[in-house]
Amino acid sequence: MSEKTQNIPIAKPWLGEPEAEAAKRAIMSGWVTQGPEVAAFEREFAEYVGSQHACAVSNCTTALHLALLAVGVRPGDEVITVSHSYIATANSIRYCGAIPVFVDIEPQTYNINPMLIEDVIGDRLRCGMAERTRAILVVHQMGMPCNLKAILDIAQRYDLPVIEDAACAIGSEILWDGQWEKIGKPHGDIACFSFHPRKVITTGDGGMLTTNNLQWDKQFRLWRQHGMSVPDTVRHGAKQVIFESYPMLGYNYRMTDIQAAVGREQLKRLPEIVKRRRYLAQRYHEMLADVPGLKLPTEPSWAKSNWQSYCVRLPEWCEQRQVMQVMLDAGVSTRRGIMCVHRELAYTSEAWSCGVERKDCDYDVGGCDRLYESEQAQDRTSLLPLFHHITQQEQDYVVKVLKMTCQV
Ligand SMILES: Cc1ncc(COP(=O)(O)O)c(C=O)c1O
Repeated sequence: MSEKTQNIPIAKPWLGEPEAEAAKRAIMSGWVTQGPEVAAFEREFAEYVGSQHACAVSNCTTALHLALLAVGVRPGDEVITVSHSYIATANSIRYCGAIPVFVDIEPQTYNINPMLIEDVIGDRLRCGMAERTRAILVVHQMGMPCNLKAILDIAQRYDLPVIEDAACAIGSEILWDGQWEKIGKPHGDIACFSFHPRKVITTGDGGMLTTNNLQWDKQFRLWRQHGMSVPDTVRHGAKQVIFESYPMLGYNYRMTDIQAAVGREQLKRLPEIVKRRRYLAQRYHEMLADVPGLKLPTEPSWAKSNWQSYCVRLPEWCEQRQVMQVMLDAGVSTRRGIMCVHRELAYTSEAWSCGVERKDCDYDVGGCDRLYESEQAQDRTSLLPLFHHITQQEQDYVVKVLKMTCQV
């Protein structure tokens, strides 16, 4: 393709003067670590998603770690999840000493297939240790809500907590008892969000836990600050001397006030960002509908995505890397489909679960029949540029290049 007139990134956050002013406000206040801006961001975030509590942390991975600890995941437990996700999802399970049990996805939504969950629930003896399912960790992949109704139905029958990895899903909605509700209300027990710049809003790095369980929220607040009994803000404003104590092992998973101040401005932009992303996704749908062999993402009738990513399944005659390279040469950045964790060395050869090699793993880097749809999604899809300020002309160009590249 000779026409290298463009340089279109895969994503670009919408940041500007209000965020810069907010960061300045926090800096000039002299309070830069977790403090009043974090508290305000939490209140505003909870109000936006409709949850009773929101607790800010350093990123979504740490949020997931705390969520799993709160619902009681302990070493040797199993947690049902997907392989088809960013590696942080499964890593957070391993941080608890627990074992991720991977379930395949639905090819249309790229989300966990609820029909396959029951098959892997249970008690079993593995590596000489008794292991049992302790929780279900589902992902709203690329912002598309997963089938929470079906998942919660199974979870309730087996008395299992459900954690939602909503890293990508701020602003996404699900039809719940006839009403559209925000992901993060939460519909499961705890939802975890990311504010990494690849997400719809950003604080540089950052995360949020939402729940309606007051005890868990209290627990998150202790854990995120070294297990310290008194927050800094309370000691700072105290009229009497306070000695803090450390009743439990904690972590440093704090968000800073500089990040939170930026996050509050991003939250104000969020409705406009989501509206624009839905418009851009609709434009892709319309312009790509007639491309032979190309499969477009589907949105179930009960879901409204925030379109954190727009993922197309390439025609069978196209080679993924080749398509991506041709597009890159033409000035269009793409990304391959979401990774499969089970194919990474960190999840195969390493003796990671119980100190001995896992002879019973039915997957290796080469592949796994049980996770066929996950592997297909990784190998056969590509993410197209989608961000708030992409112009109509740039989007048209992406479509033109893709169409030319995919021709039979
Ligand atoms: C589905 C999913 N879960 C978790 C994470 C981790 O988020 P963070 O980078 O905020 O730790 C990501 C980030 O890409 C993600 O996409």
